[in-house]
Amino acid sequence: MNLTLKIWRQKNADDKGKIVDYPMSDVSPDMSFLEMLDVLNQDLIDKNEEPIAFDHDCREGICGMCSMFVNGQAHGPDSMVTVCQLHMRSFKDGDTIFIEPWRATAFPVIKDLIVDRSSFDRIQQAGGFISVNTSGNTIDANSIPIEKEKADNAFDAATCIGCGACVASCKNSSAMLFVSAKVSQFALLPQGQVEATDRVLNMVKQMDDEGFGNCTNTGACEVECPKGISLENIARMNREYLSASFKG
Ligand code: SF4
Ligand code: FES
Repeated sequence: MNLTLKIWRQKNADDKGKIVDYPMSDVSPDMSFLEMLDVLNQDLIDKNEEPIAFDHDCREGICGMCSMFVNGQAHGPDSMVTVCQLHMRSFKDGDTIFIEPWRATAFPVIKDLIVDRSSFDRIQQAGGFISVNTSGNTIDANSIPIEKEKADNAFDAATCIGCGACVASCKNSSAMLFVSAKVSQFALLPQGQVEATDRVLNMVKQMDDEGFGNCTNTGACEVECPKGISLENIARMNREYLSASFKG
């Protein structure tokens, strides 16, 4: 396939940035999207040009690093996949493909397609954990009975990979789907009850402090989430927050 890539290039956080055209030829439909970018970068390196900076790690849909817009869609045209799981067979010979970084105040661009998502880390640090006594008398998790429906819902919430597509797809740059998944995975389990009140209050406060917008229930986050995180988690977090506000 012959393609025209239109890629956002930005030297650093202060640079204005611009779209640059890169013609590509002989792209195999079996390549992954990131392999196609690898080929382009090797070509740029061979020509003594600056390669395109993009995040990636696992390349199997579990780390959430490969976050970018492809033709204006978070993680590209396929549903329920990350960019590293996207293949060139999803495109046609002669296609023009726009590749851009996430756009949100709380995700400033560091370079080219890489944004700073440490705001997510700070939200997690504010409450996305449980405290477990590991001094030798830890209770085996399997010895605590948990209803199957709750266990399944907690597991589904825990599949959030922190990619940020929910924020990038939301017209308000809201992080509610991400934060609600991180709250829900503990709110549904007995192990999460001890710190439940502080968790939801602190994580929501940190979310607001980081400059994420409010949720207006457009649902774009759920549609673009590569892990199928449900809006039900936002409803659960709102209930947790209300109840914690009375207790707190
Ligand atoms: S909720 Fe979905 S889109 Fe948002 S960070 Fe988690 S996995 Fe990514
Ligand atoms: S590189 Fe890890 S999810 Fe894509």
